[in-house]
Amino acid sequence: MSGQRVHVLAPGRVNLIGDHTDYTGGLVLPMTIDRYTEIKGTRGGDRVHLSSFDEPDALDLPLHVERPQDVEPTWGRLVAGVVSELPSPVGFQGKVSTDIPIGAGLSSSAALEVAVALALGYRGTALETAQLCRRAENRAWGVPTGIMDQLAITAGVKGHALLIDCGDLTVQPVRLPSDLEIVVVFVQQRTLVGSPYAERVAECAAAEAVIGPLRTATTDEARTIDDPVVRMRAMHVTGENQRVRDFASALGAHDLHTAGRLMVESHESLRLLYATSTPAMDAAVAQLCALPGVYGARMTGGGFGGCVVALTEPGALLQGWVVQAVAGAGFAAD
Ligand code: GLA
Repeated sequence: MSGQRVHVLAPGRVNLIGDHTDYTGGLVLPMTIDRYTEIKGTRGGDRVHLSSFDEPDALDLPLHVERPQDVEPTWGRLVAGVVSELPSPVGFQGKVSTDIPIGAGLSSSAALEVAVALALGYRGTALETAQLCRRAENRAWGVPTGIMDQLAITAGVKGHALLIDCGDLTVQPVRLPSDLEIVVVFVQQRTLVGSPYAERVAECAAAEAVIGPLRTATTDEARTIDDPVVRMRAMHVTGENQRVRDFASALGAHDLHTAGRLMVESHESLRLLYATSTPAMDAAVAQLCALPGVYGARMTGGGFGGCVVALTEPGALLQGWVVQAVAGAGFAAD
């Protein structure tokens, strides 16, 4: 088949602070990391045919997909979601590979979505691409995930984390000091499908029905909610939004001890108020925080398993992966 050769790279992301705030228009602070999903292939034809180094069965789709959520093999549902959202999808024949661990809370899913959108010729802005991929994921999985992962992956800036306001969708790069390391430690496999993620989204909506948008609410307002569970969820979100602001300021002021303390507070809030941590993740955070040279650590991403992230002095940890902040998704020279 003659067609245009394409080589796309989409990085994973780790969220430094600001979890479960994106779907109420709050603040997050992720960074794109030097682990990638790669698609190589040829554009053309009237079907999307993708094989994967990690999956036994290849995916073969027409350009019009009615129900991405029913596609087999199941790994192809996200791909089908993207195809179904593209304004003018084109055929593609190629291969996917990734060194982002799958089901680890490092956005292997969003990296796949963004890589597919670019491979299939979508030419939107970083925000438009992220919005398209988010819709694709929501549809393919039936889980109401927010915009953080996709926007981090399309908008990543080398050497920086991104302060994203998920309400007005602005992205502000925050330079990462060179004398710190960000270390990701894998704890346990997880999936958000079938997890209490959607329940948390509903609990936030219940809180907003009482006190208005959580994006602008204060923790004092959250405290007035009668329902104890809804109150705790709201208090996490309002507190976490403030911690993101404080963390960005601490990085700017090179106050790494404060940044680390905020990460630990964020973990405690996710553990106690938002109930998205697990005993294994709590143990990993406690173990890391007890080591010399560790400023702080927390669970990262959707939770219910996945990874923890630590902020450390260079060389402090012998475990995990030291990750570098890289540019967002794009085309590679072959
Ligand atoms: C998952 C979702 C994101 C976000 C995080 C929690 O990664 O995809 O939209 O909600 O969980 O911060």
